[in-house]
Amino acid sequence: MKFAHLTFDHPPIVLAPMEDVTDLAFRLICKRRGADIVYTEFVSSEAIIRDVAGALAKMKLLDEERPIGIQIYGNKVESMVEAAKIAAQLKPDVLDINYGCPSKHVAGGGAGSGLLRTPELMENITRSIVNALDIPVTAKTRLGWCDSSLNILEIAQMLESCGIQALTIHGRTRTQKFKGQANWEMIGEAKKVVKIPVIGNGDVVTVDDARRMLDIAKVDGVMIGRGTYGNPWIFEQTKHYLKTGEMLPEPTLEERVEVLLEHLDLSIKFKGERRGALEMGKHYGNYLKGVRNVKYLKAALRSMMGYAEIRETIEKFISTAGYDEPGEAPETEQLSENEAINSEENLAEVA
Ligand SMILES: Cc1cc2nc3c(=O)[nH]c(=O)nc-3n(C[C@H](O)[C@H](O)[C@H](O)COP(=O)(O)O)c2cc1C
Repeated sequence: MKFAHLTFDHPPIVLAPMEDVTDLAFRLICKRRGADIVYTEFVSSEAIIRDVAGALAKMKLLDEERPIGIQIYGNKVESMVEAAKIAAQLKPDVLDINYGCPSKHVAGGGAGSGLLRTPELMENITRSIVNALDIPVTAKTRLGWCDSSLNILEIAQMLESCGIQALTIHGRTRTQKFKGQANWEMIGEAKKVVKIPVIGNGDVVTVDDARRMLDIAKVDGVMIGRGTYGNPWIFEQTKHYLKTGEMLPEPTLEERVEVLLEHLDLSIKFKGERRGALEMGKHYGNYLKGVRNVKYLKAALRSMMGYAEIRETIEKFISTAGYDEPGEAPETEQLSENEAINSEENLAEVA
């Protein structure tokens, strides 16, 4: 399967761009566990051309994570072209255009999925960027603005005619945002009307979901977003299954903790102790699913910054807290309020 200039001997399993999630540390964690292509979170074209430090930081990439796409958004042709050129100087493997963000701030202002309502402007932006860059351009979009304007078939053909080299489709409308079920059949309809590779996206959280999406939509690859939270193994698990028909075992708690600590280490390395540790707050619960009373551990970790201190706290907590296999009913009751207070005291001890 060819994706832009890249060749895969299997349907690529791709990490979705996710704001405040797919930073360098998270991307490396997924890459090391089999993600075939990773993306930066979307970056504002206006911020890029104004040289805003935060925007430039979001585009920092490492060779280890290749192939990688930088994703940009905006709705002004000149700004988008200028921003795309700046992003291209950082030598990503592809430049991706966001035509899918549903937020009021972005879509409401006419960017992201807002451009599904102005296909001529979308076409102008896409063609201008493709013509201005010497790296492949891809795009990510939704099925349409709302149920009564499902224009993905026309949009997909129009984007292909502009020269994009792959298209990712999230099987929802803008109005749905993240509600309801992603419509994989409709992604499949769009796949039929273009020759470029189509990557299917939406509601893939298990290996079997990925297999079913490939079956139903006949897409060339699968992009996974929320299903990667605390679960970067989903990439190698899916690829192994597609190759052999066999399921890899789920990671043990020890393996989960090991990867959580690797993630923490990278986060601190790239963002410094304070910010790196703080930003890990949103990931702890995902890695430690099944650990009883994990909320007390999360609360205690909030004030900690050093890697060694956090590691020791996590390990001590886990050795006493108990654990229920994810998916199984808890064997024991959660702690009562008193026990919880004791648990917090215990944490204070180890901290
Ligand atoms: C927290 C979060 C941030 C997101 N940020 C972006 C983004 O920056 N660019 C983008 O194209 N999509 C973004 N998305 C959408 C995802 O890429 C993906 O299309 C969506 O989550 C559906 O896939 P999933 O069901 O596998 O999560 C974001 C989604 C989430 C949950």
